Amino acid sequence: MQVFSSITELRAYLAAQRSEKKTIGLVPTMGALHEGHMSLIEASREANDVTVCSIFVNPIQFNNQDDLVRYPRTLEQDCALLEEAGCDFVFAPSADEMYSTAPSLVLDFGALETVMEGAFRPGHFNGVGIVVARLFNIVHPDRVYFGQKDLQQLAVIRRLVEDLAFQLEVVSHPTVREEDGLAMSSRNRRLGPEERAIAPHLYKALTEAKERLLNGERVDDVKQIVEDYIATIPAFSLEYVEVVDMYTMQPVDELQSEGNTAICIAAHLGAVRLIDNIVF
Ligand code: PAJ
Repeated sequence: MQVFSSITELRAYLAAQRSEKKTIGLVPTMGALHEGHMSLIEASREANDVTVCSIFVNPIQFNNQDDLVRYPRTLEQDCALLEEAGCDFVFAPSADEMYSTAPSLVLDFGALETVMEGAFRPGHFNGVGIVVARLFNIVHPDRVYFGQKDLQQLAVIRRLVEDLAFQLEVVSHPTVREEDGLAMSSRNRRLGPEERAIAPHLYKALTEAKERLLNGERVDDVKQIVEDYIATIPAFSLEYVEVVDMYTMQPVDELQSEGNTAICIAAHLGAVRLIDNIVF
């Protein structure tokens, strides 16, 4: 496995791979890797000749400076995990390398980002869109891998690929969870032991909500039940719970017959902001 911090060097190595007609899979990450990330690496390895994992804590997608400063950075451990998993190339640029020129382009994903993460984290999807587009143009992958854990991000990226005609396939992968149901996340490392014990209630609330919806209960009633449930646990501060179409991200009043519905939730637990969702 080779680790690059230079865009020019990575491009040169990947050009050589491409000239040998090898297919390239890209897994963009911000590091502090866990099994969720590794499931994407595995999927890429299965479908492509070469797998590139990018590790870059992207400053322009953080609307909260404290979150950016505290974001875990564990490059050595990450590289060990990637090496073991058979990843071929790691791209871990500095912020200066990635943004030698500060982007002036501003991306607006319209209705896709007026709700949930877009509404609560202004500018977040602009930052995600810019960095992902740069990565696509640096790596020129055949396939790119994203997790359903960040469902709205997945919808935004599909849109970006369509709008800018990137010639690649977006592959999504289900959320990988801890045994107690907590969605794996780099931010989980920042939870104290008590918070860690409470965190799985988010998933519990989602699974209960899903059952109620499938039993025909009304969306508004179910959302209220989730709000009340989370309110019984004082350590949580709920930001939103929404029942949405998983492609348009627009709130729905009732379950859709095609089964493209998702329940999404975001809450603060102490200083850590957690998100999760269930698709059904
Ligand atoms: P990061 O949070 O590191 O996530 C990288 C990828 O791993 C994303 O596609 C995310 O959805 C996926 N992922 C995270 N937790 C997962 C889990 N428990 N199960 C399955 N997949 C999971 O998302 C980002 O980084 C950034 O926004 C990025 C796209 C890299 C742009 O900076």
